[in-house]
Amino acid sequence: MSSVNEKKVAALEAVKYIKSGMTIGLGTGSTVFFLIEAIGKMVLKGLKIKTVATSVETEKLAKSLGITVITLAEAKRLNITIDGADEVDDHFQLIKGGGGALLREKIVAHNTDFNIIIADSSKRVSQLGQFKLPLETIPFATQLILKELQEMGFRPVQRKKGNDDYKTDEKNDIIDVDIWGVDIKLTELEHMLKNIPGIVETGLFLTSTDLVIIGKGEQAITEKKI
Ligand code: 5RP
Repeated sequence: MSSVNEKKVAALEAVKYIKSGMTIGLGTGSTVFFLIEAIGKMVLKGLKIKTVATSVETEKLAKSLGITVITLAEAKRLNITIDGADEVDDHFQLIKGGGGALLREKIVAHNTDFNIIIADSSKRVSQLGQFKLPLETIPFATQLILKELQEMGFRPVQRKKGNDDYKTDEKNDIIDVDIWGVDIKLTELEHMLKNIPGIVETGLFLTSTDLVIIGKGEQAITEKKI
């Protein structure tokens, strides 16, 4: 089964956690696309929910399907958030940000009671780092951060969109860093990176996830945090 179908399988399993009256965080990406599509159908059938979007793309899609989108400030706290991931390891640690929405995604996850990750089976790994770690950086500092990361022994690459620098919804830059085989604990790596002024956020989501739903073939495999 293709990864596209596995994404859909995972998304359709995740909507079972949605109940009327909830405020729900909507992630970003091609897996979440299927989620939003399914929620749109549920709303048409009478589901009453409010949502907070983690990107402009998600907000546009949700609104186009008749889903109510409010600001995080209005929501204050979210019951559940459902989001995708670029990698998920055995300890529910994630690399996110392939779609460039890591900053809002991390803020929304932090303000949520129960975080659900949906993904196709290719995302489930035993060790994080085959996927390059995205860092969101302030444009004023990006070139110096690239140099500093190089001096630290990393191989950072600024993300591009065509010939231009890729820009996030927050008008920041993204630097993708190869962390494969880096001999340092992920918590220390996160701390070290966040200590560099101008790195606003990293794509390491180490503690926020409560439940992972993986689409594998026709099946949805649910893993709960113990
Ligand atoms: C966006 C993300 C996405 O959740 C991640 O890139 C997975 O995307 P997809 O569902 O398209 O594979 O972190 O910033």
